[in-house]
Amino acid sequence: MSITQKENKWVLETAHSAYVLGLDGDGRLVHVYWNKRLSAADAYPEVVTPRGISSFDMPDNLAREEYPAYAGPKYIDPCLKATFSDGTRDVVLCFESADVIHGDLPLLKLRMQDVDYPLSVTLCYRLYPAYDLIERWVEINNTGTDAVLLERVWSAQWHFLPNASYRFTHLSGQWAGEMQINRETLTPGIKVLESRRLTSSHYHIPWFALDQGDADEDKGKVWFGTLAWSGNWKLSAEVTSTASTRISMGLNDWDFAWKLEPGATFSTPACFGGFTTAGFGGSSRALHDFIRERKLPHGQMLHKVLYNSWEATEFNVSVKSQILLAELAAKIGVELFVLDDGWFHGRNHDHAGLGDWWPDETKFPDGLSPLIKRVNELGMEFGLWIEPEMVNPDSDLYRAHPDWVIHFPGRSRSEARHQLILNFANPLVCQYIIDKIDQLLSENHIQFIKWDMNRNVSEPGWSDAPGDARELWVRYVEGVYRVWQTLSARHPDVIWQACSGGGGRADLGILSLADQIWVSDNTEPAARLKIQEGFSYLYPANIMEAWVTDMGRADLPLEFRMHASMCGSLGIGAHLMGWKVEQRVEAARWISVYKKIRPIIQYGDQYRLISPQAHGYSAVQYMGKDAQDGVLFVFRTHLTEPAVLPVIYLRGLHPDWIYELEGIAGQRSGSAWMEAGLTIKLKDDQSALRRIRHK
Ligand code: DGJ
Repeated sequence: MSITQKENKWVLETAHSAYVLGLDGDGRLVHVYWNKRLSAADAYPEVVTPRGISSFDMPDNLAREEYPAYAGPKYIDPCLKATFSDGTRDVVLCFESADVIHGDLPLLKLRMQDVDYPLSVTLCYRLYPAYDLIERWVEINNTGTDAVLLERVWSAQWHFLPNASYRFTHLSGQWAGEMQINRETLTPGIKVLESRRLTSSHYHIPWFALDQGDADEDKGKVWFGTLAWSGNWKLSAEVTSTASTRISMGLNDWDFAWKLEPGATFSTPACFGGFTTAGFGGSSRALHDFIRERKLPHGQMLHKVLYNSWEATEFNVSVKSQILLAELAAKIGVELFVLDDGWFHGRNHDHAGLGDWWPDETKFPDGLSPLIKRVNELGMEFGLWIEPEMVNPDSDLYRAHPDWVIHFPGRSRSEARHQLILNFANPLVCQYIIDKIDQLLSENHIQFIKWDMNRNVSEPGWSDAPGDARELWVRYVEGVYRVWQTLSARHPDVIWQACSGGGGRADLGILSLADQIWVSDNTEPAARLKIQEGFSYLYPANIMEAWVTDMGRADLPLEFRMHASMCGSLGIGAHLMGWKVEQRVEAARWISVYKKIRPIIQYGDQYRLISPQAHGYSAVQYMGKDAQDGVLFVFRTHLTEPAVLPVIYLRGLHPDWIYELEGIAGQRSGSAWMEAGLTIKLKDDQSALRRIRHK
């Protein structure tokens, strides 16, 4: 597993895959192969130099370039577009040098240079061999004396096996309806997914999976990729006239510009690509392991069962009400009590207060300490909600600094939820927020922070920008990252949860800062099962915070609601004072079951057995890494009678070991559970949790 160079080719091998690129006869850096790893390094295909078809399809347009720049007779979607100071808008890249850095995570750097202008482009490929993943990013360096305007600078273009038809899987949605799974065949032309909202957004997720129409959950070749960026992004899936399929990902070029000053380097966000022959399930598990083992700030911690008081008290918080809730929460086994919105200066409703990050003097006359002390006495940790990027016009902060918000001077500022966005591209704004939140964390024993962001951008002006004001899109996100990193470094034990009105910022970029994501404001369990399944395509269960609430159908059995939330990191969000004693007793029982099985759920292998998108009866399984213990969840939402219940085929068992399944008499071999399957009878709105144990 390494990077080897053979004449004009570089072969990048991971545990099961190989990615090959090389220089063609005309000096272009082109893609050669991304598929199964072969036993002999010389078995990979040769580099092909394209020949033109006609004056309309010259070689430049037909080449499968690793990183095409806009130049020459080339009409495919390029990765790089720039304007030089003399007005030339053509970047002709020529290979200069290669650098291979060996180690656990081998790195290949390929430097290219414009043939006439002082601009260099370095393509970087880092291998994560165990996960069959490649991380790609690009560094653009201005080696001249005049500024260069970058107008598009993507992270990667991924090429797929030629002359094949591909099915494109992607996730789309909206507020309270995130992560819906879409599948469509790519046809000639370009399919674009993007965000123009300043965050990665609820609407599309910067992730894709591609197969040749034959992959399922267990088998089949799947190529997949995701962009580690929490701002505007773009995915362009192109099928050319010659049936060449490629997917590019990177910063959105819509309204984007970056003035690259002499001597400066612009580095793109990282884009990760992977290949598996183990179907969609295999692609998800590779990403789950990678995220858990390589990305999350606190590594493989077991997440605590939390209680969040938002749906119970909304803005109407007081020391008394929170202590009453905390006492009930502690009794049912909650380990972390989170005070959501409504605690800070002037926050009695959503019209006021954002920006003034100190406890409201009326609600908390002695600060947060009395509440935190009581929560800690009850044996729980204390967590708090903040929304640091936002400001209400009715706040002390806005009255002092009305120009700190993103806006065009002299034009109206559209409010959403009565709030405006602080310009985190401005270092003064970042410093103010760092000071305020640092003070909050230093003065109070806070062990968990939920960082929220409840609107999208409008009127994206930055009047005192030092460079091109369109740099806002990138500099804002860099500001968010910097503030968050600074606070994390000063308070390393605090666990952070990312939220943007639910899953509006659920991307790999934020997962270097946050250990968890609040997936959706929709906690109605049947809808939630679908959202959770979409989420699982790329994210593991440990980062998926899932509350049990009374939203939607409170008539659904508590057992069903608990089971749905136990598929992730369990939380409770219902108004506990409104729950009957029997409900609290039942919840306590499920919480204690969850505590026993959470290592399997949060850190095991997940198998989507029957999809809730496709059937009113769904099943999901989690199996410990050693294949000893597992958990099966089954849900029936709605099926018309007489209903034939699907057979459930377990996965991830050792075929020769003997297992028992709770609630089903008899012991069977792993292969019997996996190949002959089982049925679990449920009526509408019923669910089941069954432990799987190796005997
Ligand atoms: C949106 C979040 O998704 C909710 O959970 C809650 O924190 C509210 N914001 C509070 O304003």
